[in-house]
Amino acid sequence: MAPPQAPRYSIVSKRRHLDRLLGQVTRLCRGSPELSNFVYFRLFFARDRHRLDYMRAGSPLKHRRLIQRQIYEAAFAPHLLRLRPGHNVLDIGCGVGRFLPSLAARRLSVVGIEPEGHHARAALRVARGVRGRPVGVCRGLAEALPFPPRSFDAALAVETLSYVGQPKRALRETHRVLRPGALLFVSVESVIGGLLSDGHLTLSSLPKVHQTHTFKLPGAGYTRYYTEDELRSLLLDARFRPLALRPAHYLLDGPLDPRVEETALSKPVIQRLILDLERRLSRDPTWRGLGRTWTAVARRI
Ligand SMILES: C[S@@+](CC[C@H](N)C(=O)[O-])C[C@H]1O[C@@H](n2cnc3c(N)ncnc32)[C@H](O)[C@@H]1O
Repeated sequence: MAPPQAPRYSIVSKRRHLDRLLGQVTRLCRGSPELSNFVYFRLFFARDRHRLDYMRAGSPLKHRRLIQRQIYEAAFAPHLLRLRPGHNVLDIGCGVGRFLPSLAARRLSVVGIEPEGHHARAALRVARGVRGRPVGVCRGLAEALPFPPRSFDAALAVETLSYVGQPKRALRETHRVLRPGALLFVSVESVIGGLLSDGHLTLSSLPKVHQTHTFKLPGAGYTRYYTEDELRSLLLDARFRPLALRPAHYLLDGPLDPRVEETALSKPVIQRLILDLERRLSRDPTWRGLGRTWTAVARRI
């Protein structure tokens, strides 16, 4: 008699089921980016919980994401220096807490807000690991910030306005919780550089993306892309005066991604090379529109 076979209820069949569900649900949600993103993230994390938890030791994405953080900090640099120890800073859409340790290292009082549960829990772990200043994390949406008016001296919204359902409302809320004169540090995906970096874009989807500046990955959420002028208008309409607006992110997931081995990214010499190239590209007028992101520093009026 043949030996009994081990039951096959493996994670693979669970994933197939989720993949099917994901396809069906995102089809049903077509026409509602907010609903689609909401459902997508629920199912995405059910399928692969740690995929984006790149602040964990040993995560294959950790060095990549931390160099990207350095690129943002270099773009924000002169204005970041204006923040004083003890200033209250809000990190809107803080994700897994990438900016929390470096903000706390500047002796700022930091609070991160994040709607996605897996991200918020990961950010909380990062916050607990920060020595010195306390760092808080709460669940919530940029469009309805759970803080009294004028409670923060600065805010950060890195990549967040490309993913929120209502960017205008999110900025109105940011304006409300900031004190007059406070600084806002922003980055968004750029239309040309961002789309050039996206391996999913096909010729057939290009006309629609060009018209709407939004793109839905197959089976995934919406990303909103901005031109330089669109970002400037968005800030001005919400009563933020832009002080600096520049491109960033050409390498590492940008249009010039040289596909550096993840292991090489831990080497200081490679990191210096990337940061130096980024600095030169962002100042070169020929490359201006081709960065993957636009970064801005703006003052709350
Ligand atoms: C590309 S991630 C960037 C995360 C983080 N700012 C960073 O740079 O590491 C975009 C983040 O925006 C968050 N997000 C999406 N919709 C949001 C909303 N309505 N309000 C606040 N955050 C939101 C997502 O959950 C995600 O963590």
